[in-house]
Amino acid sequence: MTSIDRYPPMTIPDADDVGSNPTDNSPLIEIAARRYSRRAALRGLGLTGAAGLFTGLLGARSAKADGNPSTLTFEEIEQGIDDGLRLAKGYRADVLIRWGDKLNPNAPAFEAGKSTAAGQAVQFGYNNDFIGFISLPVGSNASDHGLLCVNHEYTNIELMFPGLAEDDKLDKATADQVATEMEAHGHSILEIKRTGDKWAVVEDSPYNRRVTATTLISITGPAAGSDRLKTSADTSGMSVKGMVNNCSGGITPWGTVLTCEENFNNYFGGDPSAAPDAASFKRYGVKGEPEYAWWKHEARFDLSKEPNEPNRFGWVVEIDPFDPKSPPMKRTALGRLKHEAATSVVDKSGHVVVYLGDDERFDYLYRFVSKGTYSAGDRKANLGLLDDGTLSVAKFDPDGKLHWLPLTYGEGPLTEANGFKSQADVVIETRRSADLLGATPMDRPEDVETDPVTGRVYVVLTNNSKRGYNQIDAANPRADNAAGHIVELIPAGGDGKDADHTAAEYKWDMFLVAGNPLWGTTMYGKGTSKNGWLACPDNVAFDPKGRLWIATDQGGTQKKFGIGDGLYGTDVSGDGRAVTRKFVAMPRDAETCGPCFTPDGKTLFIAVQHPGEGSVFAEPTTRWPDFDPNLPPRPAVIAIVKEDGGEIGS
Ligand code: FEO
Ligand code: CA
Ligand code: CA
Ligand code: CA
Repeated sequence: MTSIDRYPPMTIPDADDVGSNPTDNSPLIEIAARRYSRRAALRGLGLTGAAGLFTGLLGARSAKADGNPSTLTFEEIEQGIDDGLRLAKGYRADVLIRWGDKLNPNAPAFEAGKSTAAGQAVQFGYNNDFIGFISLPVGSNASDHGLLCVNHEYTNIELMFPGLAEDDKLDKATADQVATEMEAHGHSILEIKRTGDKWAVVEDSPYNRRVTATTLISITGPAAGSDRLKTSADTSGMSVKGMVNNCSGGITPWGTVLTCEENFNNYFGGDPSAAPDAASFKRYGVKGEPEYAWWKHEARFDLSKEPNEPNRFGWVVEIDPFDPKSPPMKRTALGRLKHEAATSVVDKSGHVVVYLGDDERFDYLYRFVSKGTYSAGDRKANLGLLDDGTLSVAKFDPDGKLHWLPLTYGEGPLTEANGFKSQADVVIETRRSADLLGATPMDRPEDVETDPVTGRVYVVLTNNSKRGYNQIDAANPRADNAAGHIVELIPAGGDGKDADHTAAEYKWDMFLVAGNPLWGTTMYGKGTSKNGWLACPDNVAFDPKGRLWIATDQGGTQKKFGIGDGLYGTDVSGDGRAVTRKFVAMPRDAETCGPCFTPDGKTLFIAVQHPGEGSVFAEPTTRWPDFDPNLPPRPAVIAIVKEDGGEIGS
């Protein structure tokens, strides 16, 4: 018997991720349990469940007198939940920009409870998530000047305006409030500069830009022009108004932003049953049960009126931040998912590889390999690279091998016999295509990140409380997985620049199994302290030294586990491998998003998302960051620096 059986059953109230995968693609439980326990035992980690575990781990193999085997030497902060933000001693966090702050000198100032659509279109949006930093001047490695590219995933209308609550907002939201929500979604691009150790937004920069749920966006790649993308407003199927639920993303080697549409299904009301794609809608959770009142005010979000509209969402959008007038592009070659992140790397062959996760319980991990190759000197050519290539989905074997299965029209089951007439159909129904190929259902793939030093790839699985004991497999080894885990992919070819990110087969390993070590089903490195364990890893980032920083998003389990969300740092190799250390704690009811370092590793930007979520404008659970009795909590980007000017974590 393995200790997996001793894991305490828990459930997470999280309406976003109920799971809609009808297939049964799981290997056998016995093989899975064998691999997991063997590998854990090899390292002498976790799976013990004994009381006093922390003392047992501390000092067991420690390289330093204080018991910390990590190269990260900051003083860990205590676990716990607070109204405000806490961070390690010797560091400072400044608010760089908050929801409603001006993005140009003519924009209106923020007025609590009185936001308007016109104002919001030129102000910083709501619920900041992904953050990317691109140095200025272009091509430099500057760490004191650059463009900050920030996603705005969703809105909490009950915290934006007075008089609304979770249970009546769909009935009570006005047309003006809905229009404001649309402008609060999307993306912000802002020029920022550091003077001394203080960062500020350049308010009159020509680069400052908002892309929202109403910006005109071009559709490119295999699905462009498909009949399934045509609507009364767009009879060509070539352009779409806006993007929604932009969660995480990535920066390309040619300095554009990839911003990912995640839970697009939540925006559509009306009856989906008569839609030509009703079956496909089921697989994406498009049920006509919206979390927003948009469909009452804009016909395109009403499934009864525009049944093809949902097919125009769920894509990766590329934005060129250096050309503020250029239309963003929905790159359909990268598939249609509840996209979480898009992490790109130039392979040694010159092909551009993008790793993609579909964040839903029992959904999959994907990889795109461009047909063309990257040209360092030809930005215009690079801008077309994501329109043509091979999208594949991951199948994890219990013996530590990973297979990338291509989603190519005409190959295997992706033929007319199964209803596919072209590659357009394959990408519009990416999930069903991957089902047919026998991909491995994962525990909600959130961020994916490539180690700049070793070339290894880290896949963050945030949680899956619906995985049953008969559904565990080697890569998803825990039933009722309330706290998530991180899987390490090892491309063929070797470390760093020798890694072959285009290979059909990789190796993989378990990096970390999260949760409280006292549960007895976790896996951390030796030396993890009582403050260092984490739950529900979500966004991750590497610092320039190749250390992994893990942001958490526990949602409803925050109170249950007794630790607030935060950011944890860890080595990925050596004695400090998987020894996570808590660096920052978020304010009450906020999640940690978008960790992003400047190239010198001396500034860390974090997006503090949904502070006070679960409460209302009049009585928020926190008023972070201003703590002004007249202001609601405001999602904001913070800049963290070390007070002595050193590297973060050093
Ligand atoms: Fe928007 Fe999967 O987090
Ligand atoms: Ca996320
Ligand atoms: Ca990331
Ligand atoms: Ca999240």
